[in-house]
Amino acid sequence: MAAFTIVDHEYDVVVVGAGGAGLRATFGMVQQGFKTACITKVFPTRSHTVAAQGGVAASLGNIGEDNWQWHMYDTVKGSDWLGDQDAIEYMCREAVPAIRELEHSGVPFSRTPEGKIYQRPFGGHMRNFGEAPVQRACAAADRTGHAILHTLYQQSLKYKAEFFIEFFAIDLIMEDGVCRGVVAIDMATGTIHRYKAHMVVIATGGYGRAYFSCTSAHTCTGDGNAMAARAGLPLQDMEFVQFHPTGVYGAGVLITEGSRGEGGYLTNSNGERFMERYAPTAKDLASRDVVSRSMTLEIREGRGVGPEKDHIFLHLEHLGAEVLHQRLPGITESARVFAGVDATKAPIPVLPTVHYNMGGIPTNYMAEVIRPTKDNPDATIPGLMAIGEAASVSVHGANRLGANSLLDIVVFGRAAALRCKDIIKKGAPHKPLAKDAADLALSRLERIRTANGSQTTAMIRKQMQRTMQNDAAVFRASKTLKEGMDKMKEIAATLSDLKVSDRSLIFNTDLIEALELENLMACALTTITGAEARHESRGGHAHEDFPNRDDDNWMKHTLAWVDDKWNVKLDYRPVHAYTLTNEVQYIKPKARVY
Ligand code: FUM
Repeated sequence: MAAFTIVDHEYDVVVVGAGGAGLRATFGMVQQGFKTACITKVFPTRSHTVAAQGGVAASLGNIGEDNWQWHMYDTVKGSDWLGDQDAIEYMCREAVPAIRELEHSGVPFSRTPEGKIYQRPFGGHMRNFGEAPVQRACAAADRTGHAILHTLYQQSLKYKAEFFIEFFAIDLIMEDGVCRGVVAIDMATGTIHRYKAHMVVIATGGYGRAYFSCTSAHTCTGDGNAMAARAGLPLQDMEFVQFHPTGVYGAGVLITEGSRGEGGYLTNSNGERFMERYAPTAKDLASRDVVSRSMTLEIREGRGVGPEKDHIFLHLEHLGAEVLHQRLPGITESARVFAGVDATKAPIPVLPTVHYNMGGIPTNYMAEVIRPTKDNPDATIPGLMAIGEAASVSVHGANRLGANSLLDIVVFGRAAALRCKDIIKKGAPHKPLAKDAADLALSRLERIRTANGSQTTAMIRKQMQRTMQNDAAVFRASKTLKEGMDKMKEIAATLSDLKVSDRSLIFNTDLIEALELENLMACALTTITGAEARHESRGGHAHEDFPNRDDDNWMKHTLAWVDDKWNVKLDYRPVHAYTLTNEVQYIKPKARVY
C-alpha cells in the first residue's frame, strides 16, 4: 500500500456535500455553535443545486389563497401514495418559516409589484385539494437554486463553518453499528483526512449520471448512497427515477417547468396541445411522471416532431420577449446555446430526461438514517444523518413534484441542525478511533489506484449508462428489466478488470472518476433490481406488464442492500400511513385524476 499521509480532525458535525442541503445543514449547525466541517468535492457554489431553476414550493399565498394542507395533499397525491405522510406534513408545514428564513438571510427572490416574494404555478401544485393550479413556487427568475446556494454559502462563512473544498469523501467510519466519522482524500495533494464527528450528515445529492442522458451535473454520482451501502445500510425506493419532461433534445439540459408555469405548452407533430387529452384539468402542469409518459406515448404513436419524429415542441414564443427576459432569462439562453433556437420566435425541441432520484438513504423526518431491525422498521443508526436527494425521507415517494426538491433541501437541512441540538453536545470529547479505522477505505482506494486490468472507467461507465437508459426508462417491462438487470450484473463484474492509468496522488481525476463509477454502480444495480421486482405501476415506475397501481401488495418501501460482489438483496418496510399531528388527517389512496 502507498504510504499515505494521514491527517486527523475532530468536529462536532461533519457535513459531506455543499449543495443546498449540505449548506443549509452547515449553516444551521454553525449558527447553533457546533464546530462544523463541510467536505465537498467541488467548490460549494458549483454544486448541482446551482442548476435548479424554477422555484421552491411554499404555501405563502402571495398571489392567491393557499395553505400547507393543500400543499400536503398535492405532495401525497404526487408521490402516488408512497410518501410518508408524517414527513410530508412536516415539510409542507415548515416550508413557510423555512422560506422566510431564506428571505431574511438574503436570497434575492423575484418580487410582486407589492414587494412580496413572486410565486409561479408548477406541475401538480393545486388549490383546494386538486381544483385548479395555484402559484406556489417561490422564484428568483429561473435561477432560484443559484440564488439559494450563494446565500447559504455566504451565511455559512459568516458563522465560521470550515470548508474542505475539493476533498472527496471515500467512506464512513463505522464502529459497532455507530457512525464515528468519515475518511476523505484531498484531491490536490493526495493527503488522507480522517474526521471524527459526533454526527456525519450525508448531503451528496443524486446519481443521475447512472443514466446516459440526464439534467444532472457530472458530479451527481451517488457518492453518499454508495458509502451508506458499503457500510451495510439499505437504500430505499431506488427504482423511482424521475424523468423531467423538458430536457433540451440531444443535450439533456433542463428547461424549467416554470416555463409551463408561465404559460408555455407542448405540441406534437399535428400542432396539437396533447396534454389536454391526458390531463384535462392540470394539462401541461400535470405532475412530471404524467407529462413524461404522455410525451413518450405521443412519440411512440408517431406524433413526435423533427425529421426522426423523436421529440416534442415546447412553445414559449407567445409569452413575448419581455416575459422571457424578466422571468425566464436562463432557459432562453439555454435554448439558444443548446438547441440553436430563439425562444421568442420558435418552439424548443424537448424530450423527457432523467432529472431526480426519489430513492436514497432512508431517514425519518428529523434526518436520522434508518437501519430497520426485525422488530422496528424505523430504528435509527447513531451518528448518521442524510438529507436532500441522497436521502429518502420519504416526502417524494414514487414521484416528486417540481419545486419540492429545493424545499426538501432547505427544510431537512434545517431539520438536521434542529435535531442535532437535541441529541449531541457541543464540544463533547471524542473517544479514540480504532487504529485500523481508515483501513477499509484506504485498501479500496489503493485497489482502485493500482487497478491494472483492460477496461477504462469511461468504457464501463458508458455500458452502464446505456443499459440503464434503455432498460430502466420512462416505460419499463418485465422482459427488458430482467435483461437489463442481468446485463448490469455483468457490467458490474467488469470492475474487477478496471484499468486506472494514473498512479499519482496529485489531482488524479482518473482515480476519482473510478471511485465515482463504483458509487454509481451500487446505485444503478439497486435501481434496476428494485424495478424488476416491483410488479405494479406507481409514480416514476411505469410497468407495461403491470399497468395499475397495486396498493394491496405494493404500497411499501423497497429496501436494497448491495454487497461487495455486487449482489443485491431486497426487503420492504411499511409506508408511514399516519400524520405527525392531528391537525391533518391521513390522506387515503385514491385513483389519480388529472
Ligand atoms: O423545472 C424545474 O425548474 C425544476 C425544478 C425541480 O426539479 O424542482
